[in-house]
Amino acid sequence: MHTADRLKKVPPYLFMTLRNKIAEARRRGVDVISLAIGDPVDPTPPNVVDALSAAARNPENHRYPTDEEWGMLAFREAVARWYGRRYGVDLDPGKEIVALIGSKEGCHHFALGVVNPGDVVLVTDPGYPGYKPSIWFAGAEPWPVAMRAENGFLPKLADIPTDIAKKAAAFYLNYPNNPTGAVATKEFLADLVDFAKSYDIAVCFDNPYSEVVFGVDRLSFLSMPGAKNVGVELNSLSKPYNMTGWRIGMACGNPDIVGAIAKVKSNTDSGIFNAIQYAGIEALDNCDDFIGKMVGIYRNRRERVLTVLRDLGWQSDPPCGTFYLWIPVPRRYTSGEFCDLLLEKCAVVAAPGAKYGGNGEGYIRLSLTVEDHRLDEALRRMRANLSKFEF
Ligand SMILES: Cc1ncc(COP(=O)(O)O)c(C=O)c1O
Repeated sequence: MHTADRLKKVPPYLFMTLRNKIAEARRRGVDVISLAIGDPVDPTPPNVVDALSAAARNPENHRYPTDEEWGMLAFREAVARWYGRRYGVDLDPGKEIVALIGSKEGCHHFALGVVNPGDVVLVTDPGYPGYKPSIWFAGAEPWPVAMRAENGFLPKLADIPTDIAKKAAAFYLNYPNNPTGAVATKEFLADLVDFAKSYDIAVCFDNPYSEVVFGVDRLSFLSMPGAKNVGVELNSLSKPYNMTGWRIGMACGNPDIVGAIAKVKSNTDSGIFNAIQYAGIEALDNCDDFIGKMVGIYRNRRERVLTVLRDLGWQSDPPCGTFYLWIPVPRRYTSGEFCDLLLEKCAVVAAPGAKYGGNGEGYIRLSLTVEDHRLDEALRRMRANLSKFEF
């Protein structure tokens, strides 16, 4: 059977490849510890599970979801309350919010809703592996914008060539950043709004880690003056509430873009199970303390990993966001080689930086979403089996 040419450019999805690698090692009897994937092992808050279960018992929720194009109004109102309380952002649930099956769906529908075939789309490098396939599916071409350690992993907008900026239809960014852990500054976001405005570029600000920050303020792109004129923010319940499997998130901001995403969505699926949206309302309204507790857990795990990495020779301070650590590999290793060494000597799986883009080479990404006792075992193995490195 033939398949579409558009798939030829798309590599196998990184996390599928990593999952296969882990499964293969486990089949060989190796007790592998995965620090590769950002998927919290800690449970969803119990009140959210209770809300799902109560809503699932109501037969009214067994039908097609209500307001299928945009998501339930009650859910969108909860999103508006959450953005107001957590970020000081005012959103109109009637036209500035659409419910999504996670922010990943938003990345895809944004491209289909905003970008034309042949367009150029700016995308950070390194960056979340979901962006480029979404751009290709829309028939457009990604243009990598470098993120480097010396600039705090923020793109230098002035370095984007003017002819490319003029051609660009959209820009994908994500802060707190996967994979680097970098956080944006208000100054950078203000420059981004100006840049997008001057070149008529639609911003897709992907913010699913907005709540996972250490020692800095939470920041929404939409809190910047003028942001709603130039873009949308994607957010998600996956990471703050340990709800990756539930598939619920939102796109908020510019009403034209939100409307375009809703149009793509309503012609693709029939909305999110109402019971999950009711559970989402419970999470957004009543779990602020839970987020604080999880951030405390990540802070603690982060310190434990950093202590070991420092003992192994790495001396830098990591950036202040996400539950990832973006670690330079020791001299003379590529990211792939160092991941192989970790697997071979410690049975620990890390994500190779090169898979996040050309500028990701020279780094590996470690995730802190693993049970404490497994993390401690991974660290014990690293201490025991790795020698001190030169960085
Ligand atoms: C930057 C970024 N965007 C989007 C997603 C997708 O998250 P969701 O579960 O909300 O679809 C992830 C998940 O890892 C991510 O890291």
